[in-house]
Amino acid sequence: MNPDEVVELGRAAGAHGEVLLRRRGSVTELVVDGVFAMDDVDTSTERALATEALRRCGGDRLQVLVGGLGLGWTAATALADPRVASVEVAELQPALVGWAADGLLPGLPELPRDRLELHSTDVAVHLADRPGRWDAVLLDVDNGPDFLVHQSNAPLYEEAGLGTALAALRPGGVLAIWSSDPSPALADRLRALPGTTGVEHLVLPVERDGRRFDYAIVVARRG
Ligand SMILES: C[S@@+](CC[C@H](N)C(=O)[O-])C[C@H]1O[C@@H](n2cnc3c(N)ncnc32)[C@H](O)[C@@H]1O
Repeated sequence: MNPDEVVELGRAAGAHGEVLLRRRGSVTELVVDGVFAMDDVDTSTERALATEALRRCGGDRLQVLVGGLGLGWTAATALADPRVASVEVAELQPALVGWAADGLLPGLPELPRDRLELHSTDVAVHLADRPGRWDAVLLDVDNGPDFLVHQSNAPLYEEAGLGTALAALRPGGVLAIWSSDPSPALADRLRALPGTTGVEHLVLPVERDGRRFDYAIVVARRG
């Protein structure tokens, strides 16, 4: 396979900008509004978003919400946990939901329809409409609080949005948020919210092209 050959898998313009799915050699890339959103060279931290949250959840028949479908790795990892009964995904870009149904997403090549629901919606709206609903809420909608692709996502990382995400959990449920940079300030904001316990800031190093990148996941439990 020519590592530089680019094949466009899908391109769509919508209310939230253009979204482009393409393959470069053996790597699949997602570009949103002209900004590189992700690829699947190393999906360890997208998968860790699910595993780190779920290993902090007790019980079984777990109900999980994933905010941001992307290439499908977080959702697929949650589905692979036998304690998970159902996964809902809230994804802003309707085209991505369509491409998932067409089997174009490398992380989620098949959709287990009995355990997975895909919604084309803003996760902030989905959370606000469903208080007390989930055992785990996994948010990876943007690069993190300090480098946003969509400025409209800023409130999700602020007090009001974090409060809504926590309120969408059952008591004892776990919120996990992915960030492309360590964000102790995000962890501090969660600690300051009433009813939050067990806030942890996990730094996850990834090697790419000979360089080290420190991604982060912040987890918190609804007390
Ligand atoms: C970096 S990707 C997520 C990657 C995903 N964790 C994976 O495993 O492939 C971010 C996704 O969030 C979506 N998104 C951005 N803002 C959103 C919002 N407010 N609500 C729902 N989805 C959103 C983007 O369209 C994109 O699909």
